[in-house]
Amino acid sequence: VGYVGPQVSGKALDVVMEGLGRLEYRGYDSAGVALVAEGDVETRKRSGKLSNLREELASAPLHETATAIGHTRWATHGGPTDDNAHPHRGGRDGKLALVHNGIIENFHSLKQDLLSQGVEFTSETDTEVVAHLVSQAFDRTGNLTDAMREVVNTLHGAFTLLAVHADAPQTVVGARRNSPLVVGLGEGENFLGSDVAAFIGHTRHALELGQDQIVTITPDTYEVINFDGTPSDGKAYEVTWDAAAAEKGGYATFMEKEIHDQPHAVRDTLIGRFDAEGRLALDELHIPEDELRAVTKIVIVACGTAAYAGMVAKYAIERWTRIPVEVELAHEFRYRDPVIDQHTLVVSISQSGETMDTLMAVRHAKELGARTVSICNTHGSTIPRESDAVLYTHAGPEIAVASTKAFLGQITASYILGLYLASLRAGVTGVEPDVEGILAEMQAIPAKIEQLLGQMDRVKEIASYMADSRSVLFLGRHVGYPVAMEGALKLKELAYIHAEGFAAGELKHGPIALIEPGQPVFVIVPSPDSEHGLHGKVVSNIQEIRARGARTLVIAEEGDEDVVPFADVVIRVPRTPALLAPLLTVVPLQVFALHLSTAKGLDVDQPRNLAKSVTVE
Ligand code: G6P
Repeated sequence: VGYVGPQVSGKALDVVMEGLGRLEYRGYDSAGVALVAEGDVETRKRSGKLSNLREELASAPLHETATAIGHTRWATHGGPTDDNAHPHRGGRDGKLALVHNGIIENFHSLKQDLLSQGVEFTSETDTEVVAHLVSQAFDRTGNLTDAMREVVNTLHGAFTLLAVHADAPQTVVGARRNSPLVVGLGEGENFLGSDVAAFIGHTRHALELGQDQIVTITPDTYEVINFDGTPSDGKAYEVTWDAAAAEKGGYATFMEKEIHDQPHAVRDTLIGRFDAEGRLALDELHIPEDELRAVTKIVIVACGTAAYAGMVAKYAIERWTRIPVEVELAHEFRYRDPVIDQHTLVVSISQSGETMDTLMAVRHAKELGARTVSICNTHGSTIPRESDAVLYTHAGPEIAVASTKAFLGQITASYILGLYLASLRAGVTGVEPDVEGILAEMQAIPAKIEQLLGQMDRVKEIASYMADSRSVLFLGRHVGYPVAMEGALKLKELAYIHAEGFAAGELKHGPIALIEPGQPVFVIVPSPDSEHGLHGKVVSNIQEIRARGARTLVIAEEGDEDVVPFADVVIRVPRTPALLAPLLTVVPLQVFALHLSTAKGLDVDQPRNLAKSVTVE
């Protein structure tokens, strides 16, 4: 949040704190503010919830002032500590303060340059690097907008930045690339926010910024330029949402918003994993390479949706590394005397990093001498802290109880781990996956999810007339099998409907007895081009259940005409390599569960009996 108002009112801090309260759902592991007052910049910041910052401000009050910025954090680089909380100061005199959302992909090399100049750092964040760079540029140019423009052109990655400087009073400068920033236009005061919720209590006149743009606000003016320096007008609009809708980005529920966040979840999880030559670089993996090369078995432990992400990952990791992968529910693993030694890599997957069952499994694995890697969405949480290494997913905070974007982040991160292990072991196995080719296909996934989300009308329509269903079945093979189980889980969680996911090959061994006229069955069909050659077999399964009266809801790739004669409904997904398909095929199933739940008038974000993070065994 950023604010500039009339000098006399001194309400900047109140406005920013109120805005942060409305934005807390975007990140809540630390918070901070910076004010420009009396030729200086003052900051207060605290790890933990916003209430910690409120207490800090009560015990150490700040000057009344007209200009302020503030931030609530969801850690990506550096744990959630007081020092890593934003704003970060720049320059020897600390006259600049800056807040940042996103990930600066090239911060390592920029930091090296600054370190060699003798710049001292007080945090582990990528943000502090930018604070020093903008400060240096300000010293050269004497203008905060010019300084920001100079620096953003050297940054790679995704970012929204806000900066204030003691020598540029009553000015806030913001910049954005691949991360949101909106301007709120008031009378004698102006606002900046990650979304309109930040200022909705004060103004409904807003200005949307385009990609790669910089905005400079003062109490009475705003000016937008592109990163190349050319002027722009921005796009003015009126906010019609109320405050609650604004927090959800205009969506009716957090879950719907999070489903739409999924292109970002995948893209941001891929960001920063590659070095300057485009090779995989995993700084977060602090297990020596020779130990990783010596791994003979991988065991993935997780619960719920995270366990299904693990089951998807098994197919890819085994294929690329030739290391056997077991996937086990964490609570089962813990109590069955598993066969583990120091050459076993135990990979835990958890959105929250606090699931007690998963934590216990990790502790048990360590006791048995295994190396442990955590794939987690929450910095500083217990599971990554207790693991030997961590690979964070960058899905951003997930608020809805039923997991969606974290699932996609988990698959993405475990694939990165698989590709990394495969490249390490290339000499050992003699099989070398086309890492670059696979990564390029992964980079293309966010745009495909975007496209898919744009064509969900039919899925919503089916959901609305299926509200009375008593049971829905899901079939899939290969990576489509865990997707079928995840589709069923979403429906149980959200719509309280009996749902089961089966491996399509298992149909003839029992589940086919469940098929009676009218039984709805979703079938996830692999690509006709898949090298595993399962497409024809799954199409045969559709015929078998259709012949027994099932209502077939078929998820198939664009251009797959073989399914058409046997499908009551065809839901199309963009073409993609077989192993990446789950990142797409799960999306219609999430949308289906969401809309069925809505049609039944249920609480989508907080389904009965469930908790987001289960911290008991
Ligand atoms: C709970 C949630 C699920 C989630 C599971 C694992 O059961 O309701 O949605 O998948 O925990 O949570 P984790 O935070 O470990 O990923």
